Amino acid sequence: MMRQPIIAGNWKMHMTNTEATVFVEQLKTLVANTSCEVVVCPPFTAISTVADLVEDTKVRVGAQNVFHEESGAYTGEVSPSMLTDLGVSYVIVGHSERRSIFKEADRCVNKRVRIVLQHGMSPILCVGESLNQRESGETVAFIHSQLEMGLHGVPAEEMTEVVIAYEPIWAIGTGRTATAEQAGEVCQSIREKIATMYTPEIAEQVRILYGGSVKPENAKDILAQTHVDGALVGGASLEAESFTGIIEAC
Ligand code: PGA
Repeated sequence: MMRQPIIAGNWKMHMTNTEATVFVEQLKTLVANTSCEVVVCPPFTAISTVADLVEDTKVRVGAQNVFHEESGAYTGEVSPSMLTDLGVSYVIVGHSERRSIFKEADRCVNKRVRIVLQHGMSPILCVGESLNQRESGETVAFIHSQLEMGLHGVPAEEMTEVVIAYEPIWAIGTGRTATAEQAGEVCQSIREKIATMYTPEIAEQVRILYGGSVKPENAKDILAQTHVDGALVGGASLEAESFTGIIEAC
């Protein structure tokens, strides 16, 4: 079973519309021949512009978050249909910055995973341990519990649309990357957990990404791990050269 790799760029709170336009024009030509799936996740304000620019190219558009209701009095929030209407196909859900800074709990992460699937988009569900948890040997147990809560109620027939991103908190934006072996081990344990929650066949199809200080220099080793099916890239996704360096490694 060949899983098509994904290289997804999480722009976080970077890039105005104008900057996004310049970036995507460059990226489009650089990735014209890649065989992996390339996803860019701009801030909400640039989604429409980026989606128009990448139409008929290999680049897909993702959002960095979504609210878990269809519509209503939720000042400042963005609904799933607002995203599908713009051509968004992926949504990052439960990123550690959302969990820690905006206090998004597993229950709301789970609601978002489910509503994203109901709207025909793929959630990129982020899980990952703190440094403290890693040092006290709790990594796998903690990630398995995040998976149980995040995937609660997700039916088997929708599970192959879910993408999991393993992002150790201590490696995000710190320049400190997990070793390829650490990334591979945890991604394997994620696949084993999915196999027990669903079936081994479903687990074989789910794509599992690694994220946390991925750069062109370390991408090759990380992506060579059997259970790592791509990368979720923050800082290095903001420049066409480093982002395409990672895509080439893939
Ligand atoms: P980073 O961010 O590549 O800058 O560490 C990854 C992420 O937060 O998804």
